[in-house]
Amino acid sequence: MKIGILTSGGDCPGLNAVIRGVVLKGTTNYDIEFVGIRDGWRGVVDGDFFPLTRHEVKGLSKVGGTILGTSRTNPYEGVRGGAENISKTLYGHRIDGILAIGGEGTLAAADRLSNDGINVIGVPKTIDNDLRATDYSFGFDTAVNIATDAMDRLRTTGDSHQRCMVAEVMGRHVGWIALHAGIAAGAHVICIPEVPMSIDEIVEQVTRAHDRGRAPLVVVSEGFKLKGMDEAFSDKGLDAFNRPRLGGIGEQLAPEIERLTGIETRATVLGHIQRGGSPSGFDRVLATRLGLHAADALHEGSWGQMVAMRGTDIVRVPFADALGELNSVPLYRYEEAAALFG
Ligand code: F6P
Repeated sequence: MKIGILTSGGDCPGLNAVIRGVVLKGTTNYDIEFVGIRDGWRGVVDGDFFPLTRHEVKGLSKVGGTILGTSRTNPYEGVRGGAENISKTLYGHRIDGILAIGGEGTLAAADRLSNDGINVIGVPKTIDNDLRATDYSFGFDTAVNIATDAMDRLRTTGDSHQRCMVAEVMGRHVGWIALHAGIAAGAHVICIPEVPMSIDEIVEQVTRAHDRGRAPLVVVSEGFKLKGMDEAFSDKGLDAFNRPRLGGIGEQLAPEIERLTGIETRATVLGHIQRGGSPSGFDRVLATRLGLHAADALHEGSWGQMVAMRGTDIVRVPFADALGELNSVPLYRYEEAAALFG
């Protein structure tokens, strides 16, 4: 059996560990031949493949990024795209199936290709931890560790200057990174997309922390929406969430907090630092286990399925489980943390 492996969508610490896991088990236990597909679905469409042996994956579990490269190409777009063309390309290279490692967009494309008769197995990936199909996704723990470390550092400089520090973390649609890093670092305010807050509510929590003699620490997900945002900025004649002109939500909040509290406030956007570098030990283990189980799934021809973590087990689930509604932070989890704010 010959299998092409691709990574697609945003990169994520642990991608290389999945690749290593599947190649080691697949070659040794099942005699599967692997090829790497360069830059996600772009490589499938262009037939951009290279041999992937035990040698290429040596020592990879600790290496960040992806040795395959990644892109956000949609396999159904472009003149060489579409199931029929892809099928011909795979047939021409004698490739029997694809292992697609990616997030919601990747898995939606994988599902469609699978329904169109192409052999695909998936591995879910998201540092945001927003896929319903899996209890935890590799990359999330690393991102939380990086964000926590960054906030610990913001804390000491904030304390020294008696400043309010605002940390903007990743999370386009859900607030898992902000919630976990916020709890870990002891943030005084956690702003996530699932729980809209007004600037007055944020200011109240900042002021309470300040009155207790603390340098307030605010963590905000990039996808957080402020209640009454339009009104707050209307006096400046600016549209709310006009990112090119105003920067991200962290940079929008900081001057408002400073203006309304009188506390000097600084914003830090952690950005892609959260996605770079080595995966944490937890993510290396999770990603490796997903890779090992993906090798079993390939051997057994479980096409149209993906491997996922449920509890502490790795199971197989249909692609459909990863699509549609996102895994957002339930209110009770937010309220748990809110008890810490004082
Ligand atoms: O979905 C993962 C993620 O890291 C989000 O948290 C973030 O909004 C987005 O990707 C950034 O994407 P890009 O790397 O394309 O700027």
